[in-house]
Amino acid sequence: METLNNGSAGMADIDALKSKPWQSMELPADAAILEPKGMVGPKERACYYWLGRNWLTDRGHIVDAGCFVGASTHCFAAGAADGGRRDLNGERLVHAFDYFKVVDKYVGEAITRDFRPIGEGESYLDVFETQTKPYADMIKTYSGDFLAHRWHGAPIEILFIDIAKTAALNAHACCEFLPHLIPGHSVIIQQDYYHCWHPYIHISMEFLDDELELVDDHVPHQSAVWRLTKPIPQEKIDRLAAYDLTKEERLSLLDRIIAKASPTIKPMIEVVKAWQLCLDGDWEEAEQAHRKLRHARDVEMMQALWAKQALEVAAHIKRQKSRLNDIT
Ligand SMILES: C[S@@+](CC[C@H](N)C(=O)[O-])C[C@H]1O[C@@H](n2cnc3c(N)ncnc32)[C@H](O)[C@@H]1O
Repeated sequence: METLNNGSAGMADIDALKSKPWQSMELPADAAILEPKGMVGPKERACYYWLGRNWLTDRGHIVDAGCFVGASTHCFAAGAADGGRRDLNGERLVHAFDYFKVVDKYVGEAITRDFRPIGEGESYLDVFETQTKPYADMIKTYSGDFLAHRWHGAPIEILFIDIAKTAALNAHACCEFLPHLIPGHSVIIQQDYYHCWHPYIHISMEFLDDELELVDDHVPHQSAVWRLTKPIPQEKIDRLAAYDLTKEERLSLLDRIIAKASPTIKPMIEVVKAWQLCLDGDWEEAEQAHRKLRHARDVEMMQALWAKQALEVAAHIKRQKSRLNDIT
């Protein structure tokens, strides 16, 4: 079992990264990275901390796109600080993007539950600042709609994406950040990977399969981690920025992931495909995909997130089909 501060900071090699040390890390119950409230789990926190402490060198920044009240930001910054890095050539090291005001309902509900009553449109930047206070000197915040922000172009070593809640947000993240990753070194964390509602994330990551190496396909709750092995051709970034992949391309990329996925994530990717078919309005195919999943496993009995989401997708298909029947 690893503990938080095993090993030399910033010295991890690729084998150490690929051994996914965060999966076996023992976090003391009073570990500071468990303190901030937020939407990421203990293993994710250990992973983000490990990357900040052991993977970060002095070649680039950390981007936390979708930081909410700062749990992920705190973990990256704590790791970097414990690794002896608080800035990059005098510039702030950690770049945190968020509305920092309540736009999405679940955000308002979480803040009201965990901190204080907050209404639509109200700011929670103060909560973020309180939760990340020990690292205030390291963090630059970017408030407001992410779609309006541009990246200034400095290299990025750690790219964390928890803001790709729409295809447009995913496309913007690809367009702004991917050109600035360091081939052979930078890591990308997609926090919504073990989740079915954002298929464009899976499709985009598989589209970059030639340039990426999968490091960890499931860091509970929902993260996956890749390392960039080669430069990404600009044409590929342009296609992701435009998100103009055809329906056939999208489905074949999802099928490709399913064919090689580990048993841990395979059922979730099958649900992702069923949801993509729903988004495309292919109700018969969606139902078929869902039926196949059901045959292979007892969806009702499974407690896993994929099974819960599979049932939600099935209910959606049923509703849509009955609506269509009423019309015809
Ligand atoms: C799931 S939360 C992030 C959780 C966070 N990483 C943590 O550690 O707890 C996603 C965040 O994305 C933000 N968000 C969603 N769409 C956005 C947009 N268009 N511009 C800026 N922030 C956005 C939400 O306000 C929310 O705080």
